[in-house]
Amino acid sequence: MKNIVLVGFMGSGKTTIGRLLSSAFTLDFLDTDALIEEKEQVSISDIFKYKGESYFRQSETNVLKSLLDEEKHSIILSTGGGMVLKDENVKLMKEIGMVIYLSASPQTIALRLENDTTRPLLEGKDKLEFITKLLEDRQKFYKNAADYIIHTDDKSLEEIIKEVEGIY
Ligand code: S3P
Repeated sequence: MKNIVLVGFMGSGKTTIGRLLSSAFTLDFLDTDALIEEKEQVSISDIFKYKGESYFRQSETNVLKSLLDEEKHSIILSTGGGMVLKDENVKLMKEIGMVIYLSASPQTIALRLENDTTRPLLEGKDKLEFITKLLEDRQKFYKNAADYIIHTDDKSLEEIIKEVEGIY
């Protein structure tokens, strides 16, 4: 079975949709943030706090490399929102599988992350303003990484799963 890699901003639904797809397509669900936390035995917030963002970004690349080394197949891989920022990661993700960008508007994302305390990048920020700006900066990276884009704003989860079925 082909692998699927999900990219998109924080709160774009990668985890929720990834889990649903994993049962619909009998693929194993993996999440790069969870794999990093498992390896480091600390939360993503603590990695940012004690080891810094560049350490975290290197860990993201390392995770992709190990998945390729292990020749993982039949997986659906949810990636952290900043995974697309490095060309090297984009190349690795495309080697792993079909890359789907789950896009969502800043308003939808801000609403979903309203009470979130797990994203270090959002700490102490005016969420809507920060998300709008960062999403604008990152949009080109998501589009560049994507083999396929799914706009999620006005779609139900069922509709999104159907859309993936149509391209898988
Ligand atoms: C990040 C997104 C997070 C996590 C880290 C950094 C980002 O993942 O990797 O907090 O740079 O956008 P999610 O997209 O799963 O929230």
